[in-house]
Amino acid sequence: MDREFKRTLVTCALPYANGPVHIGHLAGVYVPADVYVRYLRMKGEDVLYICGSDEHGVPITIKAKNRGVSPQDVVDEYHKIIKESFSGLGINFDIYSRTTSEVHAKTASAFFRKLYDEGKFVTKETEQYYDEEAKTFLADRYITGTCPKCGNPNAYGDQCEKCGSTLSPEELIDPKSALSGSAPVKRKTKHWYLPLDQYEPWLRDWILERHKEWKTNVYGQCKSWLDGGLQPRAVSRDLDWGIPVPVEGAEGKVLYVWFDAPIGYISNTRELLPESWEKWWKDPETRIVNFIGKDNIVFHCIVFPSMCKGEGTFNLTDNVPANEFLNLEGDKISTSRNWAVWLNEYIGQFPGQEDVLRYVLCANAPETKDNDFTWKDFQQRNNSELVAIFGNFVNRAVVLTGKYFGGKVPANLKPEAIDKETLDQILPCRESLEKNMETFHFREALKDAMNIARIGNKYISDSEPWKVAKTDMDRTASILYTCLQICADLAIAFEPFTPFSAEKLRGMLGVGLDAGRDYRSGEGVPTVNFYAPGDGRALHTSSVIPGCSDAVMPGPDGHPVLSWNDLGRTDLLPEGHELGEASLLFAKIDDPVVDAQVNRLHEIKAANEAAAAAKAAAEAAKKIQPQKDEVSFDDFGRMDIRTATVLAAERVPKTDKLLKLTIDTGIDTRTIVSGIAEYYTPEQMLGRQICILANLAPRVIRGIESKGMILMAKQGDGKMRFITPEEVVVNGAQIG
Ligand code: 2FM
Ligand code: ZN
Repeated sequence: MDREFKRTLVTCALPYANGPVHIGHLAGVYVPADVYVRYLRMKGEDVLYICGSDEHGVPITIKAKNRGVSPQDVVDEYHKIIKESFSGLGINFDIYSRTTSEVHAKTASAFFRKLYDEGKFVTKETEQYYDEEAKTFLADRYITGTCPKCGNPNAYGDQCEKCGSTLSPEELIDPKSALSGSAPVKRKTKHWYLPLDQYEPWLRDWILERHKEWKTNVYGQCKSWLDGGLQPRAVSRDLDWGIPVPVEGAEGKVLYVWFDAPIGYISNTRELLPESWEKWWKDPETRIVNFIGKDNIVFHCIVFPSMCKGEGTFNLTDNVPANEFLNLEGDKISTSRNWAVWLNEYIGQFPGQEDVLRYVLCANAPETKDNDFTWKDFQQRNNSELVAIFGNFVNRAVVLTGKYFGGKVPANLKPEAIDKETLDQILPCRESLEKNMETFHFREALKDAMNIARIGNKYISDSEPWKVAKTDMDRTASILYTCLQICADLAIAFEPFTPFSAEKLRGMLGVGLDAGRDYRSGEGVPTVNFYAPGDGRALHTSSVIPGCSDAVMPGPDGHPVLSWNDLGRTDLLPEGHELGEASLLFAKIDDPVVDAQVNRLHEIKAANEAAAAAKAAAEAAKKIQPQKDEVSFDDFGRMDIRTATVLAAERVPKTDKLLKLTIDTGIDTRTIVSGIAEYYTPEQMLGRQICILANLAPRVIRGIESKGMILMAKQGDGKMRFITPEEVVVNGAQIG
């Protein structure tokens, strides 16, 4: 939708505070959002950047129960971890609050109450599963049973993690309560529903007609939801963790987590800007962009907009640039299987290499389809792109300037056509980068930035200033002058993607950057991000595109201060400008580093497989065979079952399963060959009193005549145990 706007509110999906953030979250939501926000701010746009922890919902209560702590303990722990790890990666929201905050409870309750008072909900009484032992209704996640689609015996009431089917608890075969293990019963309960069906015509027009510019994956998912027909959706739950439903007669009921979570965007804005929050939510000149993963599309494009439409005073989202999923080494990322690269762990293990993760996740972001993260690709992109192209170019330019010109930008004494031809390629990169940024194509935008480095790297390799310096210092000066201008362009272009390295580069070049303003300090004067080798605040405002700014503005300490509009200029660093200290922008990552990560994943996979096998075996063991066909009393009477004692036992040579047993049956001493060697050694059998079927017709097994059969109890997994009388009796005692 094209309309004029004065400011942009950028929100990121509120991560559940029941685990740390992993690379899938980062690639899908937070890295692209951060790139976008930094870019808009550098361009001088007024941007508010909101996130926080999503602290309600059943998985949190399950985690708390498993750990024997309160849900509040769980969210306190993870809120802190998540918040710190975001800022460790340079993701600095204006506010990172939480849905257990007071402001949020107040905001979400008022939102519900307004819809309630205006009759925008319908109520329904339905039958839901209830645990009579635990005396509580069971959320779908609290019910387990066998998946009707694939037979997985551990499916949840909302989903089967094995085959991926969405389920309802009613579909589960043999449902059980995860709380008590007992079979749940159906009980009546009343809930409030948002009648999405009533919003369907409006949604069809709003999304399908007026938001054709949304990403095709988002638009497509909305269309298929709408084409499938919308149903009223419950917005309350029987649970004791969450925001109480703010109406009378709703004891024991809380707001559904997906009702309160998106309101968290509003609450967090309100908490940060108590006086001026409304302009970010109610002024039509504010544009809202929600960064989310694909599993959140329906909530952000259909449910929350319907809630806002019903409520009537909040702006609707303008765009929802949802990404698809990132896999890890070919497998779906899974918190429960620990199949993930966790941000907090990465930050601890790769200090100073935060930008590598940002770079790789952006370069490989699952923008249009699911993508795979591999440690080899991570290493490859670092070593052959960041180090070999970007870092190598900058290093050569800065080090050679130190060597030949005492670390000062040389004069452009002997320009040649190639210099101009090279520099002329930069502005088109910027134009493409901007177009890609503005259409949420961040992978392509990153390629545009990297192309500037490629252009520089090719230019310095082709021009060979280290050779030219032997004969022509004037020409060397021009080559390095040109290289340094490209370095300055890189210091601007890479700020959104790799802010730590861009800052380091600016230190090496002795320049500052106007990165725009943020609201981290809340109301009052916004923080102006003036990144300089020294410190201070931006004293200038950038001139307006198209094209470039007219002149690079000096900062308070005389350093040139770059801004986005300088990108593409060819005179960013004046002759005689003193560079800072040279250092390596990126470090090579060696094989042992990534091998250690891959090995860790192999160990996790092996442990997961062993756990799954053990679980499957335990399930199989429980499997009870159906009863055999009826037999008559006479049939049974013909079987001669007796007690006997093992006198000798040995393995049957060249077999794994067979033992040859010499048995005292009370009638005679005989040989029985039995397939129990997997479960008993000969020593274990020696002297044991067992039960046998004595009158089984003899059979020759491996050349040995076996007369009779040892009676064994056999489990579903094949495990066998012999049957023995409760106390020793004479051999030959009849059983019947
Ligand atoms: O999928 C999730 O991780 C949710 N916690 C996202 C919530 S986004 C918003 F609505 F708060
Ligand atoms: Zn299944």
